[in-house]
Amino acid sequence: MAKEWFKSFFNNDYWLTYNFVDSKEKTNREARFIEKALKLNKNNKILDLCCGYGRHSIQLRKKGYNLFGYDLSPDLLKKAKIESGKQNANFYLVRGDARNLSFQNRKFDKAFNFKTSFGYFKDSKEDYKLLEEVSRVLKPGGLLLLDTKNKNYVTKHLVPFEKIEINNVGVENRQRLDSKTGCIITERKMVFLDGRKKRYIVRNRFYTPKRLQKMLENAGFVVKTIYGSYAGEKFNTSSPRMIVIAKKVKR
Ligand SMILES: C[S@@+](CC[C@H](N)C(=O)[O-])C[C@H]1O[C@@H](n2cnc3c(N)ncnc32)[C@H](O)[C@@H]1O
Repeated sequence: MAKEWFKSFFNNDYWLTYNFVDSKEKTNREARFIEKALKLNKNNKILDLCCGYGRHSIQLRKKGYNLFGYDLSPDLLKKAKIESGKQNANFYLVRGDARNLSFQNRKFDKAFNFKTSFGYFKDSKEDYKLLEEVSRVLKPGGLLLLDTKNKNYVTKHLVPFEKIEINNVGVENRQRLDSKTGCIITERKMVFLDGRKKRYIVRNRFYTPKRLQKMLENAGFVVKTIYGSYAGEKFNTSSPRMIVIAKKVKR
C-alpha cells in the first residue's frame, strides 16, 4: 500500500515555508480567535490536535492556559519543543496518530484542530475515526473547534498552477480536483538554495457543512456555530473557511 502522504510532507521543508507564511501577527490573531470561540478558561485542559510546530499553543500558553499538543511529525514536534522553550511557554507535547489518541477518556475540556488538519485520510471513515477519538477524550459538555476550508470556496478558487518564492525556496503548486474521490490533489515542487529538489503530493478531502455536521452528530457532538473566517464572521457559501464549534453531548 502507498505510504500515507501526510507521514512525509510535514517535515522541516514544510516548516521552512509555512513558518514564514504563518507570521507571528497572523498566528496571534488566530490564537485570539481560538480563545474567544472556545471560551477558554485557565482551569481547562486543552487539546491542540495536530499542533504542528505549536504556534497556537505557544501563544495560548503565554496567556496561562493549559495545553497538550498532539502531532505525528517528529520534525515539527521538535520545532515546537525548541520554540516553546525559547519563549518560556512549555506545554505537553505528545507524538501519535490522530486516529488513535493516547489519552484517557474525558481528559479534556476543550479541543481544537486548526488550519485544515482534517480530511487527510484515504477513506472518509478514517476522518470519522478522528472525530470519534476527539469525542472520546472530551468531557461531556466539552467544546471542539474544527477549522477547515469551505469546500465550495476551494473548488471555485482552485489554482491549477502557481510559481512562487517563499523564504528563498522556489515553490511550484499544481492543483486539481480528483473527480473519483472528490479530493483536491496538490503537487508541490520545491527547489532549495543549495539546489536540492523535492516533490510532494498533498491530498485534502473537504466536506459540506451538512455532511460534516452529520459526522459530528454520529460521533456524539452537536454543532453550535459555524464561522466563515477568523474574524468571527458567520459561515456562508462563499466564506473562505468553515470553522465548526461543536459540543460533546454523549458518552
Ligand atoms: C496543516 S498542518 C497544521 C498545523 C497546526 N495546527 C498549525 O496551524 O500550524 C497539519 C498538521 O497535522 C499533522 N498531522 C497530519 N496527519 C496527522 C495524523 N494522522 N495524526 C496526527 N497529526 C497529523 C501534521 O504533522 C501537521 O503538523
